[in-house]
Parts: sequence; structure tokens; C-alpha cells
Amino acid sequence: MEIIIQPDAAQSARLVAAFIARAMRRKPDLVLGLATGSTPVPLYRELIRRHREDGLDFSRVTAFNLDEYLGIGPDHPGSYRRFMQVQLFDHINLSPGHTHLPDGLAPDVEAHCRHYEAQIRASGGIDIQVLGIGSDGHIGFNEPSSSLASRTRTKTLTSRTRRDNARFFENPADVPVECITMGIGTIMESRICLLLAAGERKAEAVAGALEGPITAMNPASALQLHPDTRVFLDEAAAGKLKMRAYYDEVFARDVFWNKLRQEDGRTL
Ligand code: PGA
Repeated sequence: MEIIIQPDAAQSARLVAAFIARAMRRKPDLVLGLATGSTPVPLYRELIRRHREDGLDFSRVTAFNLDEYLGIGPDHPGSYRRFMQVQLFDHINLSPGHTHLPDGLAPDVEAHCRHYEAQIRASGGIDIQVLGIGSDGHIGFNEPSSSLASRTRTKTLTSRTRRDNARFFENPADVPVECITMGIGTIMESRICLLLAAGERKAEAVAGALEGPITAMNPASALQLHPDTRVFLDEAAAGKLKMRAYYDEVFARDVFWNKLRQEDGRTL
């Protein structure tokens, strides 16, 4: 794992956007795994800016989102489909047929989950998966105790997650109790994982995921077994890491990022 600590979330977003833009230049039909929540919003702003100002071309890109609430439709203001439209899809030239989220109203949920996995496989697999982390260590909606080998399926949300996400709903009681989420096994098959976290609220989950044992009690800790995960933290989210000085040293010496900074043409 490479752990990259930046002064703030905006700075992390610039680096991650540069990383994704470089991958899109090399592979215009990139398959991107996307996430919802507050964390990726600055990244989506950067991608939109690059699309508008630099012509970053999403026309051949395919996107798969991690999760969706069960029981609400794509037009519900709290749905993740709606979130993605408003925060990203409506502002870039990603073909609507290339955007995929689980369907919260699927009549046969199990068949739908199998189909979602099949669609990911048919696309050639996810090249780059963007991930946030819950304050309880969840990735996607894989709550603590999720099997580390899990596939796309329904999950029951913890009361903590429902509280954390209540801000996206008019009334906290409206937050659905169930969801469909890619499994941890699904996420682990992505070629590259980019985990983003910002704020003190995430510091404990981040420290557990990166420096604690691999455990279903902190689902993000499974990424310790992933061969190419890069973690982007702001100062507050990095606040409980023991090996902070080492991570900074590695990043400062990293040839890849130094080259990307020179190549990119934007101030990163
Ligand atoms: P957040 O959620 O970005 O809104 O903090 C992250 C998550 O739950 O994965």
C-alpha cells in the first residue's frame, strides 16, 4: 500500500484526478469504479474541471458504482444514482449507457446482483476503483462482519452508517435499512484501488485499516492483501497513524508521482 498524506482533501483530489486522467490517456476505454458520499465530491469536481478545461474525454469510459440503497428508485433525491448524476455524470461526456449502479428497485435482487457481477466481468474488469471509508471501516456498504470474500449482494446497514448518511435525506428515518453493494471480493479484483479519506472522524477507521490486523471488523483492512492500493489522506484522517514519517518519506522519494507532477501540465 502506498499512503499519501496531503494538507487537505482538495490537494488529494488533484492528485487522484491526475492519476485517473493519466490512466485515461493511456487507456481511453478505462473501466472506472466509483463511490458516493462526501469524500469523492472534490475528486469529481476536479474531473469535471479537467473535462471542461483540458478536454478530458470520458466517451469510451465505463463506470460501475459500488452500491445503491434498496427500495428507492433512481429519481429519489437520496439515491446514489441521483447523487452520481448531479455530482459527476451530468457534467461530463460519459455515455449514459456506460454508467452502472445497482438497481434499488430490482424485482429479483439476487439475479440482479449476479447480473451486476457479470456486467463487470464482461467489461473486462475494473481498472481503477475509487473508495471512501466509513467511520466503521466499511468500503462500499460492506459493514463490519462482512465476509472478506463477499460478492455483490444485499446488506443491512448499521445504525451508525444510517446516522452518518442521514444528511442526504429529508428525515433520518427515511434512510433505507438495506442496500445492494459490491462485495469485498468484488472490490479486491479491481486492478488498482484508490482509497480516499478526509477528516478526524475517519482517523480511527483509517489507522485500523492500514496498520491494524486484517479483519472483517474493519472491512477496509482487506486492502492490505490488494497488490496495488494507494491511499490518499488529509492531515486529520492520518492523525492516528503510527508510521506517518515513513509514509511521507516514501512519497517524497516516489519516482512515479514526481514524474506525474512534471507530465501533468497542472499544478498538483
Ligand atoms: P463519506 O462516506 O464520504 O460521506 O464520509 C464514506 C463511506 O461511507 O464510504
